[in-house]
Amino acid sequence: MQKKICLITGANSGIGKASAVQIAEKGFHVIIACRNPSKGQKALQEIRHKSKSDSIELMHVDMSLQSSVKDLAMNINEKYGVLDVIIQNAAIFDITQKEIAYTEEKIESIWATNHLGPVLLTELLLSALKRSPQGRIITIASKGLVAMPFLQVNLQDPEFQARTFNVTKAYYQSKMAQLMYTYWLSEQLKGTKVTANCIRVPSVKVDLNKYPDLSKIAKSLYSLKMKFALSPEDMGRTYAALAASEEVGEITGKYFDEHSSLVKSSKYSIDFNNIERVMDLTMGYIKQRA
Ligand SMILES: NC(=O)c1ccc[n+]([C@@H]2O[C@H](COP(=O)([O-])OP(=O)(O)OC[C@H]3O[C@@H](n4cnc5c(N)ncnc54)[C@H](OP(=O)(O)O)[C@@H]3O)[C@@H](O)[C@H]2O)c1
Repeated sequence: MQKKICLITGANSGIGKASAVQIAEKGFHVIIACRNPSKGQKALQEIRHKSKSDSIELMHVDMSLQSSVKDLAMNINEKYGVLDVIIQNAAIFDITQKEIAYTEEKIESIWATNHLGPVLLTELLLSALKRSPQGRIITIASKGLVAMPFLQVNLQDPEFQARTFNVTKAYYQSKMAQLMYTYWLSEQLKGTKVTANCIRVPSVKVDLNKYPDLSKIAKSLYSLKMKFALSPEDMGRTYAALAASEEVGEITGKYFDEHSSLVKSSKYSIDFNNIERVMDLTMGYIKQRA
C-alpha cells in the first residue's frame, strides 16, 4: 500500500471521527479502532462519505482491556507491518459516574482505558512505527490540567483503593500520566525517526445524550458550556496538522494546544524523576499482563 497509514482510537464520535475525515482527505489510509461494532460501522460510512475516500477501515478494540489491545496490535502488525501515525484519542470521562468501576481485567476503568491501554498499544506498535519513514505518536491530554498545577499521579493508589473515588480526579490523573508518558517516550525514541507529542484539548462539544443520568440542572450548565466550546471539526484540525504536517515532522516530546502552538505543562510533569516513577508504575501493570 502506497498511502501513509493513520490509526485513530475511539474515532466513532467527536474529535476522533472529525479528525478521521480530515486525515483521510489528506490522502492517508485511516484505521478507526472502535469498541462498539454498530457505532463503528455507522462512523465508517459517514467518514467515507464526508472525506470522499474509500480508504477508511474499521477495526475492533476495547481500550480498557489489554487482551483486546493486543488483538488490535496483532491485526495491524500482521496486515500492514508498518504504521505512520497513531492517535491515542479514545478515553472515558462520564461526568455522572459516582462509583468506582472495574474492567473485566479487574483494573479501575479510567486508569485502564485512558492510560494503560494507550501505553500498551503504542508499545506493541513501536516496531511498525519505526518502519515508517517518519512515525508519529500523538497522545491526548486536557487543558483542564492547567487548573490543577499541583496534580500528581498517585503512585501508591492510582486505582483509588484507599481513597474515595472521584471521577474528575481519576480522569485528570490518567491524562497527566499520558502526558508524562509522552515525554518519557520521546526520550526512549531518541535516535529514531519516530516522534511522540501530546495535544492539550480544551472544551470541545460532546453529545450530552451520552449521559442519560445527568440531572436537569447539570444538563443546563453543560449545555451553556457547550455553547462556548470548540467544534470537534475545529479540534480535529489540530490532530490532522500534528498527524500530517511536514513542519512538525522533526518535533518530539512537546505539548501542543488547539492552535498547534507549543505550551508548557506543570513543573511536576516535566521532572524526569517523577516521569520515571510514573513509568515504572505503568510498566508494572503492563508487564504483569504481557
Ligand atoms: N470534549 C472535551 O471537552 C475534551 C476536553 C479535554 C480532553 N478531551 C479528550 O479528547 C479526546 C476525544 O474526546 P471527545 O470530546 O471526542 O469525546 P467522545 O466523543 O466521547 O470520544 C471518545 C471516544 O472514545 C471511545 N472510547 C471510550 N472508551 C473506549 C474503549 N474502552 N475502547 C475503545 N474506544 C473507547 C468512545 O467510544 P463510545 O462511543 O463507544 O463510547 C468515543 O468514540 C479524549 O481523549 C478526551 O479525553 C476532550
